[in-house]
Amino acid sequence: MSRFDSKMQEKSMSLMFRGKQIFKPLNTGRIDKHVSCIREYVANIFFYTKNDTTIMIDAGYNYERLKEKMEWLDIDPGDIKHILITHQDTDHVGAIEDDSDLLFKDATIYVGEIENRYLTGEVRRKVMYKLAKLSLLNISNPKVLLKDKEVFYINDIKIEALLVPGHTWGHMVYLIDDKYLFTGDTIWFGADGGFSFIDALAEDNKLAVKSLEKLEKYLRERKLDPIIITGHTGYADDLDFSFAHKDKLCTFLKKQLVSDPEAPYDAYDESDDTREKARSEMLKKKNKEAQS
Ligand SMILES: [Fe+2]
Repeated sequence: MSRFDSKMQEKSMSLMFRGKQIFKPLNTGRIDKHVSCIREYVANIFFYTKNDTTIMIDAGYNYERLKEKMEWLDIDPGDIKHILITHQDTDHVGAIEDDSDLLFKDATIYVGEIENRYLTGEVRRKVMYKLAKLSLLNISNPKVLLKDKEVFYINDIKIEALLVPGHTWGHMVYLIDDKYLFTGDTIWFGADGGFSFIDALAEDNKLAVKSLEKLEKYLRERKLDPIIITGHTGYADDLDFSFAHKDKLCTFLKKQLVSDPEAPYDAYDESDDTREKARSEMLKKKNKEAQS
């Protein structure tokens, strides 16, 4: 997405979404010693650091304050050599599109082989209940295409890519070191648990619900209990909370089934995202215990 479009989205989406309690991004800061994040309006991008390696998960908007906020976290864009992409929507790949500042032009990107069909133009992305077709995005970074359940290492960081189609046809979530699950736009957290992500933006909502069921089953069968980290609604460390409403959709048009008093009135207003807070406070999780 061009910078102009990102700016337009800041204004128009702010008007459309204010008061709806849909987007609840984390502010810029740290979840723990391994994971940090940057807020770009309603979206979060994440960094995972282990020993001397930092990888990035998703690339956010074409966002003019990215470099500034990376400095808040003491991360140099030039040190990012690997970027895991959950899916190719413009709020997840903006900083690697050809018309961005190309802060990460030498980084290798990792994307699902099915998701890549949007990038080659074989498939067009449809949103708003299939009424709107989005334009083709141009990305020139070297790419590694991933299959479902593919396991690979970046230095000593273990990554497992899990295919969770529905929001997009090739959406991947990434399980890192068996402890952190970066879920992009598959799970939406309300005040009392996770729903399937916003219905109007999905390619196939039934498939999205099926994928979440499958994902939960997979984690439980393997007795994994990762921290669940979402692209727009924060994180939780409780599987029961994270998958509580997995068979229900976050609805775009109606008021939410579950209101969340913590949701900002206008999540596009990021005036409370400051350098001082990013450097002094840890980011709170969403599950109930954290709020009591
Ligand atoms: Fe998104």
